[in-house]
Amino acid sequence: MKLFIVFAAALLVVTALPAQQHWISFKAKHGKSYATLEEEKVRFQIFQDNVLKVNTHNARYEAGLETYTMAVNKFADLTQEEFGAMLRRINGPIPKKNLTPHVQSVPVPEAIDWRERNAVSAVKDQGDCGSCWAFSTTGVLEGQNAIKNNITVPLSVQQLIDCDKELNQGCNGGDMVPAIKYVIKHGLNSETEYPYKAKDGKCRAKSDSVVQVKDVVHFQGESALRDTVGTVGPVSIGIYGDPLQLYERGIYDRFVCFNSSDLLDHAVLVVGYDTVNSIPYWIIKNSWGTDWGVNGFMKMVRGEWMCGIGLDSTYPILA
Ligand SMILES: *[C@@H]1O[C@H](CO)[C@@H](O)[C@H](O)[C@H]1NC(C)=O
Ligand SMILES: *[C@@H]1O[C@H](CO)[C@@H](O)[C@H](O)[C@H]1NC(C)=O
Repeated sequence: MKLFIVFAAALLVVTALPAQQHWISFKAKHGKSYATLEEEKVRFQIFQDNVLKVNTHNARYEAGLETYTMAVNKFADLTQEEFGAMLRRINGPIPKKNLTPHVQSVPVPEAIDWRERNAVSAVKDQGDCGSCWAFSTTGVLEGQNAIKNNITVPLSVQQLIDCDKELNQGCNGGDMVPAIKYVIKHGLNSETEYPYKAKDGKCRAKSDSVVQVKDVVHFQGESALRDTVGTVGPVSIGIYGDPLQLYERGIYDRFVCFNSSDLLDHAVLVVGYDTVNSIPYWIIKNSWGTDWGVNGFMKMVRGEWMCGIGLDSTYPILA
């Protein structure tokens, strides 16, 4: 009996060890620390649940049942609900926006990738600040500035967080249409002039602007989005972001990423589209750092309004 207990205990240690070690290296890699032992216990449990989720999903990928893989990334100590709550910080409804009817007059290419045309700046990490809307806004402005004016200067996200306070709420969230309207009125400094701090601050914008904008276009529809990305440039979009937490690579396609205006809680930048093995997909730039997805980018299935893509698309008209 005694021997059995010793044996069972030894077995427990042996099976528990890899999980513990995985946890320790996860914490070290991402600089994680928790306030209390209780909190650490909760986080470790969630981490293990996520490891199981990732392994189960990736086994399905290996078996040819999924089109993308998942990773135990820096968000792996959060449940999807907690991750979603982090994305949804805004207080009150998003302002109503006028839709511009879509008219296509020039031919649209079969595929495009604006990264290859020097119209997409480096991927940034928004950190613990709900500033996706500001990153998406600078992304779409940088794209037009590069394409129209050959100016490839990264624009200030922090200026939008600190100064665009009429309808937007800094690190608590915001929307691209009012953000572009702010830029029409006030212009926008460069990232170097007004660098990112990942927290709310006092407005200290200078009067010079790297970009001149005269109007904003807001539209709906996935085929209109393709036309626009194909002929105008990168487009700013709202999506439902919760299920993207542990995305790694491949074409994201999951029925749980719903197509609903009520669920849009994240903003990103569509920088291109293509088709592989007859699966059409979008190329999306995120602001969760280069250690998420494929160096900060993802692919998402096209033609299914995946995660609500097509519900909320915006780009500026430069002056
Ligand atoms: C764009 O700018 C770059 C560097 O400033 C320059 O080398 C290039 O010739 C410019 N291209 C055009 C089309 O003006
Ligand atoms: C997604 O939602 C929009 C708006 O409700 C709707 O027009 C569109 O048909 C939906 N698409 C799919 C594939 O469900």
